[in-house]
Amino acid sequence: MKELLKLEDVHITIKKGGIPIVKGVSLSVYSSKTTVIVGESGSGKTMLIKAVTGILNRNNFHLEGHAYFDGIDLFALNEKMRRHYCSRLALIMQSPMTSFDPSMKIGKQMAIGMNISRAEANKKAIQALHAVGLTSAEQLLKSYPHELSGGMLQRVMIAIALMGKAELIAADEPTTALDVVNQELVLAELNMLKNKGVGILLVTHDFFVARKIADTIAIMKDGELVERGEAESILCNPQHNYTKALLEASILRPKEAARC
Ligand SMILES: Nc1ncnc2c1ncn2[C@@H]1O[C@H](COP(=O)(O)OP(=O)(O)OP(=O)(O)O)[C@@H](O)[C@H]1O
Ligand SMILES: [Mg+2]
Repeated sequence: MKELLKLEDVHITIKKGGIPIVKGVSLSVYSSKTTVIVGESGSGKTMLIKAVTGILNRNNFHLEGHAYFDGIDLFALNEKMRRHYCSRLALIMQSPMTSFDPSMKIGKQMAIGMNISRAEANKKAIQALHAVGLTSAEQLLKSYPHELSGGMLQRVMIAIALMGKAELIAADEPTTALDVVNQELVLAELNMLKNKGVGILLVTHDFFVARKIADTIAIMKDGELVERGEAESILCNPQHNYTKALLEASILRPKEAARC
């Protein structure tokens, strides 16, 4: 088991007003393991994922700490170097609608960063689209983002992660826009990738998702990790009052508790 990502004392502050959003987060993601951060809306999950994947707007936010990916501090990389790491670190965004270039067909967007011919990229794209349950894949490649629903775009994003050779996937609420059937499908795909050696960092507000996929769970409250541990122990034997309250508030708790 290899440590793929090591976050050390990550702080994110809004430059204007100096408001802290993420306060001293440290955690690790290992190959063939899924680390899930569970936190309420506004706790800083998306900001943390943006920082790790290099899309945090540094003009507006001050970033401190370290994010070591294979020993290299991602926070210290310039734009060019970061792009070099892009193919090894895939991002699945919370808002699929704004993650695609509206003026570019899906097929072209799926081929970006693949150092293979367009025909080969299309073949891989079609396989990946089928793997996330999207039929009529050939037709999809010729579509523009606005022609697809949010759920479909989310699955296209996951297909892009499947196509590449990502060693680490950072996923921000990847199933929120999906119905239950598609949620299950996507979680199964992520689990399959994990079993192939990929490390996954996933953030969610949903314990159901965490239970399905997490090896380790960290609980985030107001930008801080208040509790962490093996998934089973957090779900069945939470120690922190906040974790207990979150679990109590989870509508799935009564049914899911039976599994402890
Ligand atoms: N562009 C921004 N400018 C100022 N504050 C922001 C900005 N984006 C987010 N924030 C603030 O940062 C905090 C963390 O936001 P973030 O989007 O990371 O939360 P989250 O945990 O992902 O919530 P959700 O579950 O709703 O997606 C929130 O208080 C939010 O208001
Ligand atoms: Mg978010």
